[in-house]
Amino acid sequence: MLARIPSADVVVFATPTYFFGPTAQLKTLLDRMYSLIKFNSDAGGYVHRLEHIALALIATAGGGVQPGLQLVEETFKTIAGFSGAGFDSLLVPNASMYSDDLKQDRDLREKAIAFGRKIATA
Ligand SMILES: Cc1cc2nc3c(=O)[nH]c(=O)nc-3n(C[C@H](O)[C@H](O)[C@H](O)COP(=O)(O)O)c2cc1C
Repeated sequence: MLARIPSADVVVFATPTYFFGPTAQLKTLLDRMYSLIKFNSDAGGYVHRLEHIALALIATAGGGVQPGLQLVEETFKTIAGFSGAGFDSLLVPNASMYSDDLKQDRDLREKAIAFGRKIATA
């Protein structure tokens, strides 16, 4: 999985907000992605292997955008900025914990389709 990331055009991360952050499972992947950025002591800077990639985030939360979702978004936005990657997000506040409720949310479905189209053509 990690090795395939640099050859992707877009990497889409999806996570619920758990205690003001992404899930521990996703954080494990993020931590390992740090290995895709190397410090080049000769050139005196970082060599990024994510520069040509767009990172996209889909995040849900039981509460509003503040503070949980915003913190989750800020983490991914900062990683993208540091890595020279593009970034876009779809934030879903006040999300029901029952997946069938989300499936029946027509507005959200439209937003998700529009977001998918946007990141596929960016
Ligand atoms: C362990 C845990 C921690 C959570 N922490 C937050 C939180 O910090 N902020 C928030 O708005 N919602 C929080 N929620 C609600 C989830 O973000 C919300 O139910 C989510 O969108 C759906 O997650 P699910 O895929 O696990 O059902 C938490 C839920 C769980 C189970």
